[in-house]
Amino acid sequence: MNQASATPTVSIENIGTFPDQRVRLRGWLYQKRSSGKLHFLQLRDGTGIIQCVAGHGDVSDALFEELAALGQESSLEVHGIVRADPRARSGFELHLSDARILQNAEDYPITPKEHGVAFLLDHRHLWLRSRRPYAILRIRAEVERTCHAFLESRGFLRLDAPVLTPAACEGTTTLFETEYFGGRAYLTQSGQLYSEAGCQAFGRVYCFGPTFRAEKSKTRRHLTEFWMVEPEAAFLDLDGNIELAEALICAIVEQVLEHRRDELEILERDPAPLEGVRAPFPRISYGQALALLEREGQPVKPGDDLGGDEETVLAGLFDRPVVVHGYPSRLKPFYMKRDPENPSLALNMDILAPEGYGEIVGGSVREENLDALDAQMAEQGIDPGPLEWYRDLRRFGAVPHAGFGLGLERTVTWISGVHHLREAIPFPRLMGRLYP
Ligand code: 4AD
Ligand code: MG
Repeated sequence: MNQASATPTVSIENIGTFPDQRVRLRGWLYQKRSSGKLHFLQLRDGTGIIQCVAGHGDVSDALFEELAALGQESSLEVHGIVRADPRARSGFELHLSDARILQNAEDYPITPKEHGVAFLLDHRHLWLRSRRPYAILRIRAEVERTCHAFLESRGFLRLDAPVLTPAACEGTTTLFETEYFGGRAYLTQSGQLYSEAGCQAFGRVYCFGPTFRAEKSKTRRHLTEFWMVEPEAAFLDLDGNIELAEALICAIVEQVLEHRRDELEILERDPAPLEGVRAPFPRISYGQALALLEREGQPVKPGDDLGGDEETVLAGLFDRPVVVHGYPSRLKPFYMKRDPENPSLALNMDILAPEGYGEIVGGSVREENLDALDAQMAEQGIDPGPLEWYRDLRRFGAVPHAGFGLGLERTVTWISGVHHLREAIPFPRLMGRLYP
């Protein structure tokens, strides 16, 4: 490998800028096929996959033999000349002149044959290297990047919320409890209450982090650990809140379509439904939702919540996400402001994704009046003790404010067109899964 110093080290992603040049690539053997005098090595480096061709005579005899014995996912460094090849996905091939094997992997458990999901999840630490997780998790990173860029462009300051908390935000039935120096703490279900404190300090803030819910349901839409982006703004009303969420969703879809086309193609995700996602989204009230559900033969008793099945039916009636607003307030958490024109309803909104994916956003106007807040806490049996600080926000400069939470994995699942949320996060946590 004496030419190493003069040879540029490149990534597959930008190998096209080195046509007919000698380069060095480092990565892992994705697949291999040999015909007597030629080895075809599919090398991946995390930015793509490229075919490397090693001919007998182009490399030393010893190396040719070594390459023949190389197992899937072996790590290696190769040198070769970049050649344009219109048949290749990347548009290029690498003609090897030399290679150095870093580690020869034997019996890699994930082979090109089909594996069951349980097996793949048990090997998630290795499964991450396959095409499908590669595509989905790159889309996830694009969605995260867009959330930050979009909210920053709208004047929102990132303010991180704590993970260990003294009280529930979204009801006590899904709390994870942990011992805390002789006392008790809970893993956060939502950073919202802290974002509310933040918006009175900075005007517009958002938190973005993991949130936890001890969901005992085994559905394709629930994780026990999921990520949420939660903007909160002072002086924002329900309309403004809906517009903000719409614009965020549109920005996410647009950026994925612009930067992650290849990944959508790997997933065989038809981009057409995504291309139609434009604001404004249709808006329907809870009452209108019930009427539509009745018409579609999926009736819900007035006052009852909409479940996953109902969300699927409703969202299926529209070609883009649909906003459902004004749910009965007794179904909703203590912090939601009631509609002054009909106090049995909350000033809230959910956004349901099309194509059967259901709720991706939940948000509301918050109750900023201390007496009204206290009454709602009493009604729902919530201990004000650990929320004294939250009550303070109503004592010192209370203003109308609103915000929402967008579930990252729900959004990624919809955009990627995958079936189950567990594929939209690197290491999913489910009721029956804490490993790896
Ligand atoms: O509707 P949720 O419960 O709202 C809140 O937590 C508010 N405090 C947010 C806010 O206003 N700042 O959750 C918001 C979103 C849902 O729309 C959904 O996308 C996602 O979080 N979500 C889950 N995602 C995966 N697994 C779960 N178990 C989820 N529960 C909620
Ligand atoms: Mg919700």
